[in-house]
Amino acid sequence: MSMYDVVPVSTNDYKKLAQKRLPNFLFDYIEGGANAEQTLRSNVADFDKYTLKQRVMRDVSKIDTSTTLFGEYLSMPLALAPVGMAGLFARRGEVMAAKAAENNAIPFTLSTVAICSAEEIHAATKQPFWFQLYMLRDRGLVLDILNRAALSGCNTLVFTVDLALPGMRLRDYRNGMLGNTVKGKISYLTQLLTRPGWLFDIGVMGKPHSLGNLTHQVKSANDLNRYKAFVESQFDPSATWKDIAWLRQNWHGNIIIKGIMDVNDAKAAIDSGADGIVISNHGGRQLDGVSSTINKLPSIANAVAGQTSILLDGGIRNGVDVIKAIALGANSVLIGRPWVYAMAAQGDAGINSLLSLFQQEITSTMGLMGVNNIKDINIDLIEQFNSHLDSVVPTVGHSAIHCGEN
Ligand SMILES: Cc1cc2nc3c(=O)[nH]c(=O)nc-3n(C[C@H](O)[C@H](O)[C@H](O)COP(=O)(O)O)c2cc1C
Repeated sequence: MSMYDVVPVSTNDYKKLAQKRLPNFLFDYIEGGANAEQTLRSNVADFDKYTLKQRVMRDVSKIDTSTTLFGEYLSMPLALAPVGMAGLFARRGEVMAAKAAENNAIPFTLSTVAICSAEEIHAATKQPFWFQLYMLRDRGLVLDILNRAALSGCNTLVFTVDLALPGMRLRDYRNGMLGNTVKGKISYLTQLLTRPGWLFDIGVMGKPHSLGNLTHQVKSANDLNRYKAFVESQFDPSATWKDIAWLRQNWHGNIIIKGIMDVNDAKAAIDSGADGIVISNHGGRQLDGVSSTINKLPSIANAVAGQTSILLDGGIRNGVDVIKAIALGANSVLIGRPWVYAMAAQGDAGINSLLSLFQQEITSTMGLMGVNNIKDINIDLIEQFNSHLDSVVPTVGHSAIHCGEN
């Protein structure tokens, strides 16, 4: 039996299967991070520094993994993070993911730069989904997109603030996905031809490959390069918290600010009227060298817990990671790469079984810690923080822990 006949039971198994199926530039696009990828690596590795407390003989016959966020029921404290161009990883990929999220009673977030439009998702699902937006220079366009999202039933806006400038993802230049060299273009075409399965299923049958939320703005509807140029020209490096206050006046649903990595920014987000924050470094794709998100969580939770909903993404690869983040102060987490790997590997069966795995792992982790409800998971369940870094000692909940932030 080869590796590829093995039943996938982890994010890493799906990643290996996805790599077999995707052209190299697409695999690199999903897997890669900025510059030397230090932050990308520490997002995952830093979860190992926290150990959980095992408690026994506590009647865990009624484990309930569900929670509520903004008044919405979630079967577990997990949501699908916005991933640009996910429709290149499976045929109409964002619709597939939104349906899987609905099946599993967790939120799906549609990226501004998705292949499928908000209207396409709305037509295919019943559950309201979340919509992610960046601050664009053209505020009229921002209002237009907000309006379309609201008409498509979105009640929660995930506003991403860590893209004042695009991060340097070197893999995307190296493999020809970005840049305009002849060598790059030849390499790109060669990679396509080595993946005939992807080429037919998604490259041909998965069209149109336009960015569905921006088709009104970009003329040549099938040219992804034009979209990229348009989007990059629209990122607004002059944006400040005042723009969030403006946004607050123009969006009547919840606003979650995504990309917070600093206590003062968390406070500013609350002051500007946000209902929630996502502690996020964009999956290590923007500022390389910034801390992992899990290391930032204790101090931010310590400063703003109770004033806002705290979400976290970056490096969550299984249900144990979810529980560690909840214990360290998050209300919920999001996953980015894991759902795309599973979908690229095995379509909707892949993404549904990945979500069942998370559900099973969350359940067994809670049971083995002696906990029946998500609301009972707190810092007391983190037994130890192992760090080679000098530690500061934030207090969250009742006890003090060592935290590796510096
Ligand atoms: C391929 C890819 C595309 C992404 N596109 C977006 C995007 O369009 N908008 C956004 O806010 N975040 C985007 N992100 C960041 C994710 O929403 C999320 O913060 C990150 O993937 C979490 O880390 P994880 O992949 O380790 O789970 C993207 C991430 C990846 C891997």
